Amino acid sequence: MPIPQETIDEILRAADIADVARAFRLELKPAGQSTWKACCPFHQEKTPSFHIDTAKQVYHCFGCGEGGSIVTLVKKLVNTDFVGAMQWLAQRYNIVIPEQSHSGESNAEAARRRQFLDDGMRLLTEATGFFQEQLRTPEGTEARQYLADRGIDEATVQKYGLGFAPNSWEALATWANEHGFSRALLTATGLCLQSEKNQERVYDRFRNRLMFPICNELGKVVAFSGRVFGATPAEGGKYVNSPESEFFHKGRVLYGFHIARQAFSHSKWALVCEGQLDVIACHRAGLLQAIAAQGTAFTEDHAKMLAKTQVPCVHLAFDGDPAGHKATLRTIRLLQQTGLQVLITTIPEHEDPDSIFRTGGATALQNIMGQAEPAIPFVFRIACQNHPDGSPEARSAIVTEMLEVIATLTDEVAAIGHCQWLAGQLRLPEETIRGLLNQTRAANAEAEQRSRRLPINMTPLPAPPTLSVPRLVLENDSANTLTATMLDLAVHFQPIAEQLSQDPDILNPLADCPAKNALTMLLAGTADGDWEGTISALTRSDLCNDQLVSAVLVKSQFENLFALPERDGALQQALTDCLNRLQAIKLQQESAQLGAQLEQQPDDLAALAEAAKLARERQQLRTARRRRPSL
Ligand code: UTP
Ligand code: MN
Repeated sequence: MPIPQETIDEILRAADIADVARAFRLELKPAGQSTWKACCPFHQEKTPSFHIDTAKQVYHCFGCGEGGSIVTLVKKLVNTDFVGAMQWLAQRYNIVIPEQSHSGESNAEAARRRQFLDDGMRLLTEATGFFQEQLRTPEGTEARQYLADRGIDEATVQKYGLGFAPNSWEALATWANEHGFSRALLTATGLCLQSEKNQERVYDRFRNRLMFPICNELGKVVAFSGRVFGATPAEGGKYVNSPESEFFHKGRVLYGFHIARQAFSHSKWALVCEGQLDVIACHRAGLLQAIAAQGTAFTEDHAKMLAKTQVPCVHLAFDGDPAGHKATLRTIRLLQQTGLQVLITTIPEHEDPDSIFRTGGATALQNIMGQAEPAIPFVFRIACQNHPDGSPEARSAIVTEMLEVIATLTDEVAAIGHCQWLAGQLRLPEETIRGLLNQTRAANAEAEQRSRRLPINMTPLPAPPTLSVPRLVLENDSANTLTATMLDLAVHFQPIAEQLSQDPDILNPLADCPAKNALTMLLAGTADGDWEGTISALTRSDLCNDQLVSAVLVKSQFENLFALPERDGALQQALTDCLNRLQAIKLQQESAQLGAQLEQQPDDLAALAEAAKLARERQQLRTARRRRPSL
């Protein structure tokens, strides 16, 4: 029984190779930007040589040579065939493989279906070319003028494949007919609509519009968005979009994603705007990491798409009006749930990234996008604006709105910190807020379960282990995020800064980076008795050009967390985690040095003894970390 291609695509989109590896109890350790390593499940070994790459969703063992895709991995681990692997993945990611729709399909029918889908994709690509050609005809004059008026140059038109749909009911339909595309393909791709009066006739959906091709993550055109020239017409919207189809699922396509994903790894943040023209403006201003959900309908699948790229942080740049705020809140929750850090860029009223670029150029747009505010303080600001009177009811509403967002944080220490801060702001007992947080989480979990109830007789597999400790420290403990976590702790809690500042060599094992420089300055300032002054100096310094440093410091300026009591040991525990990690890095550096030395002089007895001692210490540290009680 063949599984429909759409379902296979859906499964592969939802699945994540790191999650699958963890499901098989492989202990993943970070090995690079988007790579992890573990001891190979296919041969006996003590040191990990099994690598997985979450960006490419592939694995390879340098020890035994095994390798392949996520499907190969499941096939091998479950000892099954392709269909079995798909069923296993479908079950894990709660995707239902349709039993009826294509099950009775013969091989010939399946082949016809595949051909139909291939032809549809070819039609979408060739239609893009048709619209581009139309832009160069005399009929396209108004469209060209419109583009010129909006400052969109020829290179941009080319790069984004912009085109023009003529003012006609059948320009595209006729062209398609001449090029051998059937009416069925025209309606299935959403390019044409079926005439109600005449079954034999289809007519163009896009008429007299500027055409934006919409690409999937592989850069293949799957849909279009067509804009009217000038003001929004009384009837119909400013944009006409392709409908949902076998080719296009709006909730899983992000405009510009295929271009932006290459920029995520070095920019370290994704930028989510509202519209196509905003994305284009951002890209032109050098912010290649911009994407759009085509309006504000950002979905859970969109969040997963971003999370899978391993980009750690997302800036949201939606409109600053109430509708934009509502969309922002919803999107913050979706993104935080997948473990992404969220910052908000406030766009001045009646502007959007495109208009800022047009009036102020690249610098103006870069400046605005760089001034992002962390999500939680943003939510608090908006909640206070919405409930300004300070009454008990207003404070209650503020708490509710805040907890909806705090509850979605996967970083427990951050969640606790935000609860403490909120309690301080509203002069409420912290226990009350923490209790309400747990209630909110329980309610959310129940709602989630209800919405995802599985068909009977499908037992869900164990969910991936939930982290009860900061994600920054355990899941992704690269040296830079470790440094940023320590900076975060030292900026928020003076006693921690003081404790760290007592050991002048403590930061030595860390690699140089802006966060380390900031931390070094802060510890020096703290040792001189000016913790608070050093923080405000840092906030104004060039170090804030660094994304991590600025995220930590901007947050601190807003939070006014100074002198918070440390009640439950959670922060001390986070600090201990950091210090253990630091110690591990130090031991690793020492043993690497020792290893080099032993290569030169293999029978240096003192070095051998030292190496054994180091190995034991590292093992002890690992055991201690594993035994650490959860928060
Ligand atoms: P905007 O109304 O902000 O449009 O909608 P825009 O992108 O700034 O376009 P200009 O500058 O007015 O030309 C943001 C996005 O929402 C979707 C489109 O994807 C648009 O880019 N949208 C908007 C629609 O799908 N339909 C509409 O009628 C309006
Ligand atoms: Mn605009």
